[in-house]
Amino acid sequence: MRNFVLGIVVTIAALSLGGLGAALLGFLPTRANSTPPDFERHVAMSALDNSVERHAPRVKNPVPTTDENLIAGLKIYTMNCAGCHGGIDRKPVEFGRSFYPAAPNLILHPPDDPDWHVFYVVKNGVRYTGMPAWEHNLSEQDLWKVTGFLTRLEKLPPAVQDYWKQASGADPSSGEPASQDEQKHDEHK
Ligand code: HEC
Repeated sequence: MRNFVLGIVVTIAALSLGGLGAALLGFLPTRANSTPPDFERHVAMSALDNSVERHAPRVKNPVPTTDENLIAGLKIYTMNCAGCHGGIDRKPVEFGRSFYPAAPNLILHPPDDPDWHVFYVVKNGVRYTGMPAWEHNLSEQDLWKVTGFLTRLEKLPPAVQDYWKQASGADPSSGEPASQDEQKHDEHK
């Protein structure tokens, strides 16, 4: 039994050292201009989801989702997030696709997680990706406003939809992606 346990420990140590050696000798790819393989994507998405489930406080969105606050959330999104996650005009953004992993288009594929989950991701960012932590760049109130906007994207009240239409010329209720190509890129989950 002791030998068996020792065997496992030695194997793990050898694999870790092997991985470290491969990295230091330059065998690991570092290019961002490729698409993560399915396996890697699934493991990373599950690891992220489960980590958020484990760490994020289950709090209720303290900012009421009035028309005014949702419109404020839309504006915060447009100013800070659209460059990577896609604008309310629904046009594809090349910049967001240039990350490894690519930034999902949140306008075409809004998050289906609860507010506390999205808030935690936006506030703290996502390690090893291009998603920044916004806690020092947006106030707590603004973090909740943009969260409320994103989680209600598919059921916005008429006044907010009107504002969206005016601001972008695009119809928020049309769920059509801008093109087939866009759709392919954004199937990240
Ligand atoms: C510099 C580019 C960049 C900017 C700006 C940016 N993000 Fe991100 N964001 C990313 C990337 C890349 C990911 C993908 C992380 C991953 O795959 O785990 C991401 C992931 C996310 C996710 C998780 C999506 C999911 O599928 O679980 C949310 C929510 C999010 N961002 C919201 C925002 C909000 C809100 C803002 C603006 C306040 C913002 N992001 C600004 C690059 C960006």
